[in-house]
Amino acid sequence: MVLGIETSCDETAAAVIKNGTEIISNVVASQINSHKRFGGVVPELASRHHVEQITIVIEEAMRQAGASFQDLDAIAVTEGPGLVGALLVGVNAAKALSFTHQIPLVGVHHIAGHIYANRLEHEMKFPLLALVVSGGHTELILMKGHAEFEVIGETRDDAAGEAYDKVARTLNLPYPGGPQIDRLAHEGEPNIDLPRAWLEGTYDFSFSGLKSAVINTLHNAAQRGETIKPEDMAASFQQSVVDVLVGKTIEAAKEFEVKEVLVAGGVAANKGLRAALEEAFHKLPDVELSIPPIHLCTDNAAMIAACGTVLFKKGKRSALDLNAYPGLDIENF
Ligand code: KG4
Ligand code: ZN
Repeated sequence: MVLGIETSCDETAAAVIKNGTEIISNVVASQINSHKRFGGVVPELASRHHVEQITIVIEEAMRQAGASFQDLDAIAVTEGPGLVGALLVGVNAAKALSFTHQIPLVGVHHIAGHIYANRLEHEMKFPLLALVVSGGHTELILMKGHAEFEVIGETRDDAAGEAYDKVARTLNLPYPGGPQIDRLAHEGEPNIDLPRAWLEGTYDFSFSGLKSAVINTLHNAAQRGETIKPEDMAASFQQSVVDVLVGKTIEAAKEFEVKEVLVAGGVAANKGLRAALEEAFHKLPDVELSIPPIHLCTDNAAMIAACGTVLFKKGKRSALDLNAYPGLDIENF
């Protein structure tokens, strides 16, 4: 039984899982309402909320699991990447519990956690390709075995979720903008011509040009006194993002002859992306497509416990000098 703790951004989360795959409890306290009026996450505010919530959230996860600390084999905690002040709250709570109850401590990479959210649904099949699309990351990661991560492509500028949030702000939609654009996109037509950065010959991504194109198109229309329907802009933007994400994922899945493609991170909740991936992989029946249910796509601690269990079984132990690492590298943690 493993307790997971996650505080890398704006959710304070704790979960208890069994055998690496079975969720016993999964508690998430979201701070979104506190950050909304600022249009994004305010790091110092996030840290303060984590301090207020962390004990309550851990106690609630343990209570719902009907577990005592003696039942735990390990405590898994997000050590990075993320906001340093936010990460430190989870890391210190985990260290205090580990020290007090003499429970092994395992530091977990946040994105590795997002990938392992898939293992809470079904066993992974290697080699696999993970499309990671979150607020801070857009990456294609090749895995030849458990906890072996090789980054084959990444964004050169904005992450997909970041582009969603910035475009949403331009359209005067509240934070976080991803779900808002997703909702609007289904009410509009993708009839505005926007660029797609293919970066041929690489598996890298770029979304800043697309974001600028959206801003310029809206400005130019306003200057001409024309109106663009926000739902059409949302649909066109989403189409552009989804085309590139799906196109590159299919290409990499073929080149590396993977058995499975996993989708991970907050943007994996996107309905347009989920539908487009399902349609594309339908034509590639040898490759299994796995997308976690929406509540496991966004930040949670069950995914951290799932990854932590695998690392624990592989022998990873973190010492009491474990720190928060805002720029932690997934290939070496
Ligand atoms: O993985 P996550 O919860 O936190 C990070 O680790 O970054 O991802 C948050 C990101 C935000 O940018 C949010 O706008 C985006 O995921 N997101 C979505 C959707 N739901 C969340 N983006 C597009 N469509 C959605 N339905
Ligand atoms: Zn995340």
